[in-house]
Amino acid sequence: MFITPAYLPDKNRYESMQYKRCGRSGLLLPRISLGLWHNFGGIDSLENGRAILRHAFDLGVTHFDLANNYGPPYGSAEETFGAIFARDFKPYRDELIISTKAGWDMWPGPYGNLGSRKYLIASLDQSLKRMGLDYVDIFYHHRPDPDTPLEETMGALDHIVRSGKALYVGVSSYGPELTARAVHVLRGLGTPMLIHQPVYNMLNRWVEDGLLDVLGKEGVGCIVFSPLAQGLLSNRYLGGIPQGSRASRSVAYLQKDDVKPELIAKIRQLNDIAQQRGQSMAQMAIAWVLRQPAVTSALVGASSPAQIEDTVKSLDRLDFTPEELIRIDAILTELSS
Ligand SMILES: NC(=O)c1ccc[n+]([C@@H]2O[C@H](COP(=O)([O-])OP(=O)(O)OC[C@H]3O[C@@H](n4cnc5c(N)ncnc54)[C@H](OP(=O)(O)O)[C@@H]3O)[C@@H](O)[C@H]2O)c1
Repeated sequence: MFITPAYLPDKNRYESMQYKRCGRSGLLLPRISLGLWHNFGGIDSLENGRAILRHAFDLGVTHFDLANNYGPPYGSAEETFGAIFARDFKPYRDELIISTKAGWDMWPGPYGNLGSRKYLIASLDQSLKRMGLDYVDIFYHHRPDPDTPLEETMGALDHIVRSGKALYVGVSSYGPELTARAVHVLRGLGTPMLIHQPVYNMLNRWVEDGLLDVLGKEGVGCIVFSPLAQGLLSNRYLGGIPQGSRASRSVAYLQKDDVKPELIAKIRQLNDIAQQRGQSMAQMAIAWVLRQPAVTSALVGASSPAQIEDTVKSLDRLDFTPEELIRIDAILTELSS
């Protein structure tokens, strides 16, 4: 199954990565974390996925993020991760933060979706089997469920921590008011909310409208997903839609139609600012989300080891001048108007 030899991580792996405290917890997360939503499914190359994970860890990326239904097919990213973990990462389990989630559709019938205690507990048991783990570091409720009482969903998260199957818990894509309520329910149960996982990037700034304030006030960490807007905020599409890119693949959420000429024209302007800063477009997009004090980590995807290497170099220049931020805001405002 595996062609490349067993793995010895780079001994300098902790020298250049930066780590930030996750809210008011004891846990430090790398400023760049790696997600396995795409490129790790049953349809993808196992050796490529393995090379990406190895390179990320060599660069000090200690956090890998999964979900029950990452693939395709559903469950296969966890299986891929499990195979690579068994071969390469088992000796380094205590150097890793591994997360998974449940909340979107996973199996047929009324118990494989949303936020019931029945679904969350059964799903985590399945995830642990697929990954070959005794516990995950973080377990998330993946999206709000308008019909299940919040107390039930948070009660399931509390139970999961007490049963030793997760060390910490979080939520994903909850709005500001629901997040504040969830924080209080969990606090009442004695299991603090560690982290929130919302989408945040230059093309989607919804977290600036209340959520980041709630997280800062409550001492909850924040790991933002799709900081590159699935690759749009990079040089990937400046010359068209390359073969093999996410937008070119029918299995991905990013569609060819999303690569609009007017959007690419604006990304060119942003790319000019990035170049003046001595950064790639992707590096500037990452630095831009990390400028928010409430943001603990940027959760990126990668389709090659070279991409994660490029992304991690964003840490060489995180500061922005007020003028740069004004120029970026002006371009983004024109885009949204
Ligand atoms: N909680 C949720 O509901 C939710 C939802 C979505 C994602 N997530 C999490 O967030 C993670 C990241 O999401 P995402 O993959 O959409 O993140 P992203 O970082 O915005 O996009 C990743 C894609 O951007 C391109 N890319 C990455 N680095 C690049 C670089 N340095 N230069 C040029 N292009 C680059 C690659 O596209 P190509 O494939 O075209 O090379 C890569 O697949 C997921 O894996 C998952 O863990 C969570």
